[in-house]
Amino acid sequence: MSSKTYNPCDLVIYGALGDLSRRKLLTCLYRLELSNFIEPDTCIIGIDRMELESSEFIEIAHKSLQEFLNTDLDEAVWKRFSSRLSYLQIDLTRMEQYSKLLAFVDHSKRVMVNYFAVSPVLFKSICQGLDQSGVLSRTSRMVMEKPIGHDLKSSREINDEVAKAFNEDQVFRIDHYLGKETVLNLLALRFANSIFTTNWDHNTIDHVQITVAEEVGIEGRWEYFDHTGQLRDMLQNHLLQILTFVAMEPPATLEAQSIHSEKIKVLKALRPITAKNVKEKTVRGQYTAGYMKGKPVPGYLEEEGANTKSITESFVALRVDIDNWRWAGVPFYLRTGKRMNGKRTEIVINFKRLPHNIFRDSYRELPPNKLIIHLQPNEGVEIQVLNKIPGIDENIKLQKTKLDLSFSETFKNSRIFGGYEKLVLEAMRGNPTLFLSREEIEQAWTWIDSIQNAWTHLLESPISYPAGTWGPIASDSLLAQDGRAWEG
Ligand code: BG6
Repeated sequence: MSSKTYNPCDLVIYGALGDLSRRKLLTCLYRLELSNFIEPDTCIIGIDRMELESSEFIEIAHKSLQEFLNTDLDEAVWKRFSSRLSYLQIDLTRMEQYSKLLAFVDHSKRVMVNYFAVSPVLFKSICQGLDQSGVLSRTSRMVMEKPIGHDLKSSREINDEVAKAFNEDQVFRIDHYLGKETVLNLLALRFANSIFTTNWDHNTIDHVQITVAEEVGIEGRWEYFDHTGQLRDMLQNHLLQILTFVAMEPPATLEAQSIHSEKIKVLKALRPITAKNVKEKTVRGQYTAGYMKGKPVPGYLEEEGANTKSITESFVALRVDIDNWRWAGVPFYLRTGKRMNGKRTEIVINFKRLPHNIFRDSYRELPPNKLIIHLQPNEGVEIQVLNKIPGIDENIKLQKTKLDLSFSETFKNSRIFGGYEKLVLEAMRGNPTLFLSREEIEQAWTWIDSIQNAWTHLLESPISYPAGTWGPIASDSLLAQDGRAWEG
C-alpha cells in the first residue's frame, strides 16, 4: 500500500459489460490489486442492462482478464479482487431503477466513485437518475472519458448535464495521456532541473516538434472514427495536453488549480487557425493501401464498413504559434496519424544555433542541440550534443553524440505503470491534478472548432499517403517552408 492512506470507495461502473470496462477498466483494476494499491474495503459494483447474478458477472470479469491481460492470473490476487465485485441490473434510461443503488453504497464508510464507461448519449440519463434517487452525496465523484463532445457546443451540453448532478470539483475528466509516466516526467524535467528551467523560451529554443505516430488503422471503429477524424480524436486532447505541459509557465505548486490555470493560459494564447491561414498551417491526410512491417494492409476507404466517399482525415500536421512572451517566434509543429511507419510518440525541443562557429574544420555549420523526450515506446530522455573526438590531431574534430537516459535501464527495479492505472487510482484517491477541467476542454474545443470549420469551408479532400509511411509529403513541406525538417 502506498504511504498515504485514502478512503475506500464504492466504485460503480456504468456499462460494466461494455468494451471499455472489460478491456481497460477491469484489467487496470486487477493490476492495481496486484500491486496492492486498492484499499482493502473498496467495493466494485458493475452496472449494466442485462439480467445477471453477481456470480455471472464475476465469471465475465474472469474471462475478460484472461482475454485482455496478456499474463496469467495470480489466483490469490484474483480471489481478493473478485471478492470486491458485485453486479446490479439497471436500465440506465429508467430513472426509477437507480434507487436500487441505495442498498449498495455506504457514504459513511466509502466514497462513491461513478465511472461512466458508456456512450455520452447516456450521460444525461445517468446524471438525472443518480440525482433523483438521492444516492449521491457531496463527496461522490464522477469519472468520464473522451469523447467529451464533438465540438464546443456538444461538449458544453455534456458538461451542463453533468453539472446538474455534480459540482465541478466532483468531476474527473480523463485524458489517458496524462497518466503516462513520461508525460508526468515533463513536470519533473522542466521544473526540477535548473538547466531546463533557465533554457526554456524564445531565447534558446528555435522550435518544438510533437509527434504521435500510430501503427494501428481503424480497427473496426469505422463508425466512431469517420465521424470524428484524427484532429478531434487525437489532437484536440492528447497532443494539446502534451503541448500545454511543454509550454506552460511554472505552476506555483503541484496542486490541481495551479496546474489547470497555467494550462488554460497556454490554450488561450494559441493563435487561431482560420479559413485565412488554414492552408499554410495545416495538412490533412488519409491513408491508402500499403505495407505495415512487410504485410499488405487496406486503405482507409477499404476498411471494414467504410464509406468509400469519406473525406475524413487519418493524419494531421499543424504549425501552432503561441502568442505570449515566452514563445514569441517559436513555432510548435504537431503531427499525428494512423497507419504510420512505426508507433512513436516524442517531443523534440530544437535549440537555437550558436551565433558563431569556431569549429569550421569539423562542421561548416554546427548542428543545434536537441532534447528528445521519448514518450512511448522506449521511454526515455535524450540530449544531442557535440563532443570532441578523442585524439591529438592538430584540429579539433567534433562528433554528434547522445546523453541517453533510458527509463528501462535507469529504473530497472521500478515498474512503469500504464496511464489508466495511474488515473483510475488518482480518481479513487480524489486527486484532481491530472484530470481536465471544464474550462480546459472548452478552450481546446474553441481552438479546434476554428480549424475544423476552416476545413469544412474549404471542402477539400485529404491528401493520400500510403499506409506504412510518415504521412503526405505536404507534411514535410509544412516545415520545409520555414527551413526546418521533422526529426527522424
Ligand atoms: C485514443 C484514440 O484516445 O488514443 C485512439 O481514440 C488512439 O484512436 C489511442 O489509437 C492512442 O492511445 P495510445 O496510448 O496507444 O497512444
